[in-house]
Amino acid sequence: MYPAVSYDWRIHAASNLTCNVKEADMTAQAFWDRHAPKYAKKPIADVTAYEEKLTCVMALLRSTDRVLEIGCGTGGTARKIAPVVANVTATDLSAEMIRIARSRSGGDAAETPEFLQAEAAQDIPGQPFEVICAFSLLHLVDDIPTVLDAAFHQMKPGGRFISKTVCLKDAPRWMRAMVRVLMAARIAPHVIILSRAELTRHLIRAGFEIEQTRYFGKNRLSPFIVARKPA
Ligand SMILES: C[S@@+](CC[C@H](N)C(=O)[O-])C[C@H]1O[C@@H](n2cnc3c(N)ncnc32)[C@H](O)[C@@H]1O
Repeated sequence: MYPAVSYDWRIHAASNLTCNVKEADMTAQAFWDRHAPKYAKKPIADVTAYEEKLTCVMALLRSTDRVLEIGCGTGGTARKIAPVVANVTATDLSAEMIRIARSRSGGDAAETPEFLQAEAAQDIPGQPFEVICAFSLLHLVDDIPTVLDAAFHQMKPGGRFISKTVCLKDAPRWMRAMVRVLMAARIAPHVIILSRAELTRHLIRAGFEIEQTRYFGKNRLSPFIVARKPA
């Protein structure tokens, strides 16, 4: 049995066993560049939970919204959001993720996200944004407060920050131990082991008000949190 966390450690473990990880450049960008092709092919682990999340996100969006998605990966969610809002800018640290995201885009330019390679805390053109999304990202960044401060700063008053990220401090001890082993072996990227309560405190410290916290499917380790910048 493997843990039902949103990040699929099995794929990364298997892929890294076939390459020389000791010699590889282990920066976060290099890690994600190397894993992007496999990540792009990976099916969504729980389609029902993903669709529920998407429905909740869509219900929060208005046709006039400018949306930023940070850590967008290969852009699947950004492409789904783009047709219902004014525009979507989707960024990712990994050039390879962005290359794949762009290669999958097409059709109506007005309904296509703009994909940019950028670090999560970077200032992005097109601000202020009404909505900033971060899915399966915050546990991976170097410094959560810096990323949240940047999101707060780039957001219009009254705007929303929408996050779903794994909170491994709420996981059983054996699962945390396994993740630490995978990190030490450089099979997994560096992960911040935080709890839902800590993540909530980070958001409040940055100036956000928590609007809702909920879970989708059976997963109780990745809270979906909607936080609002006061108007
Ligand atoms: C687990 S994937 C999630 C991708 C997408 N959000 C999703 O839900 O499928 C994490 C993504 O975050 C990106 N990432 C990791 N650290 C980052 C950082 N500091 N700034 C921006 N993107 C980052 C990785 O390149 C990768 O595409």
